[in-house]
Amino acid sequence: MTDDMRTPILPGKGASDYERYLRTDELLELQKPAEEMLHPDELTFQVTHQASELLMKGAAWELDRARHCILEGDYKNAARLLRRANKMLVHPLRMLALLETITPYEYHVIRAGLGHGSGLDSPGFLALLHIAPRLGEAFFEQVKKAGLTLENLYRRHREFFELHEIAEELLDYDENIQLFRYGHLKLAQRIIGGGVVGTMGTPVEVLKQRMEFPLYRALWDVRNEITTHVNAENATGHGGVY
Ligand code: HEM
Repeated sequence: MTDDMRTPILPGKGASDYERYLRTDELLELQKPAEEMLHPDELTFQVTHQASELLMKGAAWELDRARHCILEGDYKNAARLLRRANKMLVHPLRMLALLETITPYEYHVIRAGLGHGSGLDSPGFLALLHIAPRLGEAFFEQVKKAGLTLENLYRRHREFFELHEIAEELLDYDENIQLFRYGHLKLAQRIIGGGVVGTMGTPVEVLKQRMEFPLYRALWDVRNEITTHVNAENATGHGGVY
């Protein structure tokens, strides 16, 4: 690399174009300095939350792009973007395990500095919940336009391959949200306990109830319908190859 190549050409703060483009100066100042921390584990607590917020923001962005693609009938790109969003969402779930390494007593030292701070106000998670029904509407509209019921789509999945792919990616999305909620409930139970209230006064028990709400109930229910059909077809000796 010549000296010339090391000279930044992008505008902004930072010694190199890498730091300028990614705005690492600002990014790395977003955590409490050591002297303000209530406990050294606070850095892990902050970066885990911040990294999750970034990935949830990224996922919600891709989900909205996918929604536009679905509305335009561009199912190939919709499936690609949904796949990307789903891959992003795997990480907030995995990162919860990092916080399981904080001991309950030490967590309470950090918690004392959280004020009314609560995951209920997570912009990333709220964005994911906000986009979900609008994304579902776009998909179900296309199923209807194709003159199909959901059961038809699953029965004729080879013929409507791309729309079926979208259905499965939406189911993955729903499952990822449920898995996050389950993992997060287990984290809350092991750190603060399942029988207490959170920093916003919400009982941990409520997290359990939320976990059981699917985003796209129809996509889960259609499995029951399929099994009932197959059982009925088998009973009459008209079982198919599905
Ligand atoms: C030590 C770790 C954690 C504990 C003890 C904990 C505890 C809680 C509790 C008790 C609630 C219920 C609301 C309230 O605060 O009163 C809640 C909600 C929530 N938390 Fe956490 N949390 C932790 C880490 C995280 C992390 C890393 C994230 C990732 C962004 C997160 C995201 C959320 C979300 C999205 C909600 C709303 C849940 C929903 O709508 O189902 N939490 N958390």
